[in-house]
Amino acid sequence: MKVFSNIPDIRRQRWAEPLVTWGFVPTMGFLHEGHLSLVRRARQENDRVGVSIFVNPTQFNEPGDLAAYPRDTNRDLSLLKEEGVDLVWTPDPEIVYPPDYETFVEIEKVARPLEGAARPGFFRGVATVVAKLFNVFQPQRTYFGQKDAQQAVVIKRMVKDLNFNIEVVVCPTVREADGLAMSSRNANLSPPARQQATCLYRALLAAKDLFEQGERDAEELRAKMVAVIESADMARLDYVSVAHPSALEELTVIEDRALLSLAVFFDTVRLIDNMVVES
Ligand code: PAF
Repeated sequence: MKVFSNIPDIRRQRWAEPLVTWGFVPTMGFLHEGHLSLVRRARQENDRVGVSIFVNPTQFNEPGDLAAYPRDTNRDLSLLKEEGVDLVWTPDPEIVYPPDYETFVEIEKVARPLEGAARPGFFRGVATVVAKLFNVFQPQRTYFGQKDAQQAVVIKRMVKDLNFNIEVVVCPTVREADGLAMSSRNANLSPPARQQATCLYRALLAAKDLFEQGERDAEELRAKMVAVIESADMARLDYVSVAHPSALEELTVIEDRALLSLAVFFDTVRLIDNMVVES
């Protein structure tokens, strides 16, 4: 496994064998089974696998959140090596954003609600860095988790609109045994908050249950999710949503499919989760 910080080194390695296919997994490090499931899928579907580890400053609107983001590059690299990854980019922030940097990618409608509304500038930062990562690696396929459902929709929109010749593969959310979706942020939960954090998954399951009993009033599903979150005394609800899975507009009545999603704070740790329901 080759590990580089500079762009010319990544490009040289990427193009050393021009005819092989590359799968690419962008990450912010502190890897868990969710990331590794993306790497394994990339490994199955491509000749070579590239991974980036970069905590992208432009997608954090709270400096405290950026500083608190967990990091352990040595551990990440040994996990990636065990998975048979070929190439890893670990750039310093000045390589990605030199002092004279001034270009950003902005996606409109699908980036506005949900995470976009809760975290202004978040998707501008994500889309910008992902566009740069795509340009550096130039993979045939890229792998994202369903856990960040809106991010996957936004990236697919960007790939289509900017004519990136890349297939975006969205892989299922990987969960802990008790249902908590895997996230690097889980490491920052206190032990009692970690116990209560299963309320996100329980809220989604409760709403899914209602849907499966025939409820199609989106507001009833939202109310159910709110009630489950409010039953966890350490949880502070940010939003709940029942939206169209690709347009991401809030629904009044569910026709055949809906994306249930929510964001919840435990102290300063913000967790998100989602589930698609369909009849
Ligand atoms: O999902 C993430 O970890 C990040 O948003 C990504 C895609 C690596 C961009 O920084």
